Amino acid sequence: MTDWLKFPKTEMHLHLEGAAPVDFIQAQAKKKNIDLSHVIDGKNYLWKDFDAFLKTYEAVMSVLTTPQDFADLMRAVLAQSAGQGVKYTEIFLGPVLMSDNDPVRWKEMLAAIEEASSEAEEKYDLIVRYISVIVRHFGIEKAEETAKLTAQISSPRLTGFGMAGAEDFGRPNDFSRAFKIAGDAGLGLTVHAGEWCDPPSIREAIDSLGVTRLGHGVRAVEDLDLIKYIIDKDIHLEVCPGSNVSLGASQNWKNHQIHELKNMGVSISISTDDPPYFATDMENEYTQLANLGWSAEDFKRTNLEAIRHAFVDEEIKARISEKLEY
Ligand code: ADE
Ligand code: ZN
Repeated sequence: MTDWLKFPKTEMHLHLEGAAPVDFIQAQAKKKNIDLSHVIDGKNYLWKDFDAFLKTYEAVMSVLTTPQDFADLMRAVLAQSAGQGVKYTEIFLGPVLMSDNDPVRWKEMLAAIEEASSEAEEKYDLIVRYISVIVRHFGIEKAEETAKLTAQISSPRLTGFGMAGAEDFGRPNDFSRAFKIAGDAGLGLTVHAGEWCDPPSIREAIDSLGVTRLGHGVRAVEDLDLIKYIIDKDIHLEVCPGSNVSLGASQNWKNHQIHELKNMGVSISISTDDPPYFATDMENEYTQLANLGWSAEDFKRTNLEAIRHAFVDEEIKARISEKLEY
């Protein structure tokens, strides 16, 4: 029987703050005398729907204020990933949440996080990259400010740019300037799309933002022409099944869109999004899918597809691929 914990994995879609263990956040809150009892109940983050999830998420973020906090969080998250058999991870960082887009603070945050990541890469068999992420419902102005900040003040592991947040805020095209700034700075591009919104908005996101990847993208299965378009353009989908089931973007594991996407030949990979919020981890994601018929070969294919679309150069891709042998 395959040991899904040890099975070598990639993770392309993991939010740094969304991966914060509850006890880590509670310890920070206690240290700073912040009451989080409205969003944390004992061992769990509290939310009942996607809007509440986003509010809890932002409240939890409020306890993380210093570069040291984020470096400690990065250490905890990377230790977790390494323990889950992850060999390559791309982690979303939100400059606006971490530094309010202040250049001095952002630079300090990046330096602290880079140091933590270097330590982790030495300690574990793991390669780390970051994706700077804008928060859609914070608006176009903030998004462009973040894009400019990211283009100006970057770091060796910051190789991507993306957008998360409320997908029904504005149109994808509203954010085209922010993506253009990031793309011109040489960053790889991805956008949360098709988690909640319909196929036309997924197509608009692909066409107007110049992305090579979609976060989630699961609603694409509702439109066969769009699936063909995604395959023709070689767009990769960072699928997070446990997140979708937990938030209600998918009915359940058995009927999750990932099975159809796989059968249709779409380029997909498997990630956890915000694991403690959804009581999941990479081992659970693999085990749930394996229980529904996925084989080691299927998982290996998703990992190779992830690497093919990773925001790193060919030399690093080759190094990661070697780590994926099982
Ligand atoms: N930010 C963190 N997780 C998210 C999700 N699943 N959708 C949109 N924004 C997010
Ligand atoms: Zn996400």
